Amino acid sequence: CGIVGYVGTRDGVPIVLEGLQRLEYRGYDSAGIAVASKSGLKVHKAKGRIRDLQSTLPKRIKGTPTIGHTRWATHGAPTDENAHPHVDFSGRFAVVHNGIIENAPHIKDRLVADGIELASETDTELVAHLIGQAAVDHEDPVAAVRAALRRVEGAYGLAVLDAQHPDRIIVARLGSPIVLGLGDREMYIASDVGAIVRHTKQVVHLEDGEIALLEPDGFTTSTLDARPVQKVSERVDFDADDYDLGQYEHFLRKEIGEQPEAVERTLSGRIDERFSTVKLGGLNLEPHDLRAIKRVHILGCGSAYYSGEVGAHLIESLARIPASAEPASEYRYRNPVIDPNGLYIAVSQSGETADTLAAVEELTRKGARVLGVINQVGSAIARANNGGIYIHAGPEVSVASSKSFTSTCVAFAMLAVHLGRIRDLSPADGDRMITALRELPAKIAAVLEQEEAIEEAAKWLAGFDNAMFIGRVRGYPIAREGAQKIKEVAYMHAEAYQAAELKHGPLALICPEMPVVAVVPDDELGEKQRSTLHEIKARGGPILAISHEKLPEELAERTIVVPRTEPELDPILLNIPLQLLAYHAALALDRDIDKPRNLAKSVTVE
Ligand code: G6P
Repeated sequence: CGIVGYVGTRDGVPIVLEGLQRLEYRGYDSAGIAVASKSGLKVHKAKGRIRDLQSTLPKRIKGTPTIGHTRWATHGAPTDENAHPHVDFSGRFAVVHNGIIENAPHIKDRLVADGIELASETDTELVAHLIGQAAVDHEDPVAAVRAALRRVEGAYGLAVLDAQHPDRIIVARLGSPIVLGLGDREMYIASDVGAIVRHTKQVVHLEDGEIALLEPDGFTTSTLDARPVQKVSERVDFDADDYDLGQYEHFLRKEIGEQPEAVERTLSGRIDERFSTVKLGGLNLEPHDLRAIKRVHILGCGSAYYSGEVGAHLIESLARIPASAEPASEYRYRNPVIDPNGLYIAVSQSGETADTLAAVEELTRKGARVLGVINQVGSAIARANNGGIYIHAGPEVSVASSKSFTSTCVAFAMLAVHLGRIRDLSPADGDRMITALRELPAKIAAVLEQEEAIEEAAKWLAGFDNAMFIGRVRGYPIAREGAQKIKEVAYMHAEAYQAAELKHGPLALICPEMPVVAVVPDDELGEKQRSTLHEIKARGGPILAISHEKLPEELAERTIVVPRTEPELDPILLNIPLQLLAYHAALALDRDIDKPRNLAKSVTVE
């Protein structure tokens, strides 16, 4: 979901609509906008995209202050009624909200008992009524918002308009980000700086438990228990261009193309030639702490989880520390035993994924040591950790992740070298890895140059209903990520399997209608890979191979060749063609590539 707001001297409606469009990737099943004026609140909502909101917008909806929202349904179906903003029973307050109110059923019962009629099925509407009720006893609207929020359990980033003060926006944050943008006699708010960066780069991040009152000339901040807080503004280093398509038709393709520079940034300033290692300044762990680690546990969701699997292989092979990855969404629910000698690592592009955040909070509460591998600086998960590595991939707008996956794998490679070099990884091996890491951006660029061949393969693949992706050991997470990508953006059924497990079951599926995408690097397992391909061929399965050299026709009808690197880093390069494969398959099938159905970029709910 996304929140945008404006208070100033201009008409806020076009500003908010444009900002919402930039946040649409975070949720896009319904949207709405509200303006406060002396004559009351003006609200318009619509099911569907921002363009549906815009095309049905009545002329009377204009002015300032303005708040808007783009929604990804949690409580209640995506309908006009359930879209935000929600207005309280008195018609005075309009509320937009990201997050989830955990005690919603309880609040609902109380409100219904108080005789309030509910217009929607959302938890947000309940907050609006709570503010309306609190305003009866509190003349100051900020005090009313505070009183209402004291009755709320859960997570929120919210913005409130008050018709009795049509020159103000009130915002509050607990667990879901809110940023203030400072302009010249105007102020902006957003749940993500990308929505407002074209208007101002001077921003203030609200912390959990803070409330801000914004007026055109400035803002004041305080805590939920009414203590004043002094905030210092900072300058964001993103450009508006980072959020623009430029020459591209889709963000996914743009971001796939940005990977050489993204990897440069991940590596930047971190190579330590003198000691044949890398410098990771944010770990906040001394060498003797790192030496004491007996096991590494990596947690994340979706592509972040698969990049964690790549990371686990890197750490095992270079640092010789047992390592494994698990979906954070499972971990948080299974009452895990905390490993006192373990190092936990949470992976998240957005730093907001609720399942990952909950896992980190549970771990921290139990005294575990948790690091983050995160793209979004200052995000909730980054703050909840003891330290970590920022990947600096730059803003990622496409719902399906690409450059953040690659940069995360690179960050893990660096961590593995770092952990290895304070253990048994030799200086020569350290140098070998550093050189290979340095060469990665150019090699990624070389893979991207093969787009035409990959596009041709994608068109062929798009002609099937199903596909099997296979890989072995370090290639398996890449098969999983490749299958995930094609499911996400091409809506094509795809399954990933460990190549050697094929013969223990799924080989029964292999036939001319079941294409196999085989991740087959020419590494120490090369011979084994070939025998798997023979097994598939013998059952008539068509094969697209991703390998280091062109395979003979009798093994694979099609091969995409990627440059060689050190075997440990192979997965990073082998994955790039699979990203383009998913992209071009989706294009051939005319899918909504940047905003696949039913998905959202950041899942900030359970
Ligand atoms: C969502 C997205 C996935 C992403 C996952 C984790 O499910 O659709 O593409 O990999 O969240 O996101 P994170 O921001 O934590 O990396």
